[in-house]
Amino acid sequence: MRTLLVTGGAGFIGSNFVHHVLEHSDARVVVLDALTYAASREALAGLPQGRVELVVGDVTDAALVDRLVGGLSGEDDAVVHFAAESHNDNSLNDPSPFISTNITGTFTLLEALCKHGVRFHHVSTDEVYGDLALDDPERFTETTPYRPSSPYSASKASADHLVRAWVRSFGVRATLSNCSNNYGPWQHVEKFIPRQVTNLLAGGRVKLYGSGANVRDWIHADDHSSAVLTILEKGRAGETYLVGADGERSNLEVVRLVLELMGRDPDDFDHVADRPGHDLRYAIDPTKLRTQLGWSPRFTSFEEGLARTIDWYAAHEDWWGPKKAAVEAAYATQGQ
Ligand code: NAD
Ligand code: TYD
Repeated sequence: MRTLLVTGGAGFIGSNFVHHVLEHSDARVVVLDALTYAASREALAGLPQGRVELVVGDVTDAALVDRLVGGLSGEDDAVVHFAAESHNDNSLNDPSPFISTNITGTFTLLEALCKHGVRFHHVSTDEVYGDLALDDPERFTETTPYRPSSPYSASKASADHLVRAWVRSFGVRATLSNCSNNYGPWQHVEKFIPRQVTNLLAGGRVKLYGSGANVRDWIHADDHSSAVLTILEKGRAGETYLVGADGERSNLEVVRLVLELMGRDPDDFDHVADRPGHDLRYAIDPTKLRTQLGWSPRFTSFEEGLARTIDWYAAHEDWWGPKKAAVEAAYATQGQ
């Protein structure tokens, strides 16, 4: 049976991917996760023990990473790398763990992959490309120049460059994907959509940064997972694939939709302090992934996906409730 080592597999998207792999392949999964504040053991609960193993550890721990990667077969097995510090606002307050996990962690994996000749998939973000003007007719493609703006996106861009250098200089068999903004179950309450939904569920108010003109390109996490598995199975080593589901919405539109879906007045929200260096617009052109690998998203209606996500948060207050007060207290100190 094939084994996938999934780093960050207890996080929002990584745990979704683990479920996806168990459902859509016969692979065995080893999760390597440091169980930071962003992780959820609960997201992996109930999975068949014979097929999933959780190793609690750090991707910057070279000895551990070498042992885990060395235990994989160079023929069939692979490492899928989700582990990261992932929240822009946190990277503005303390960039240090972003440099360590996102850059040194990726370097540590690459050294082990190189030594043991194991296939790699590196999960990255569209934020490495910086931002677009609201009226730019072009979207990001695989050839868009890198122009990251935050410590988070700069650390992910650095990791992407390392992966490509290890492909070219040392022959590591790696594919890369850069995905747009994800939404869905198990996303931490510090992020935009869960924050607004849980604010309303907890009796608080919706918080919009600045004017809300900023545009994000939304994709359901299930569709990100299916894209990563498709690239792992059919992608060509050395290639990059952009992942997106044609889901551009302004933050103002999203806030109004959340309020409407939750039976509130769509104009009843607070404008709060804007994020320093706030990227204006992200937008993905997923043509290469669709045409070369035949991938397409299942959630073609953002409204439907969002409604299902709201229902999920309403049913899982036991999970997000204990995290909520600390997150809101931190935002409050920043006027957000
Ligand atoms: P997340 O913050 O929810 O999860 C990250 C996981 O990595 C957590 O389980 C955490 O414990 C683990 N982790 C952190 N530091 C670690 C370390 N040093 N060693 C081992 N494990 C560690 O993040 P996410 O939203 O699930 O994002 C996963 C990946 O997808 C990241 O690489 C991110 O850059 C990328 N991505 C995210 C989005 C998005 O919208 N969330 C979009 C595109 C790409
Ligand atoms: P976020 O979920 O942090 O993702 P990213 O920074 O990776 O795009 O934020 C999504 C958008 O929502 C971004 O433009 C910032 C904005 N935002 C708010 O307007 N209010 C909020 O409370 C948060 C957390 C984000």
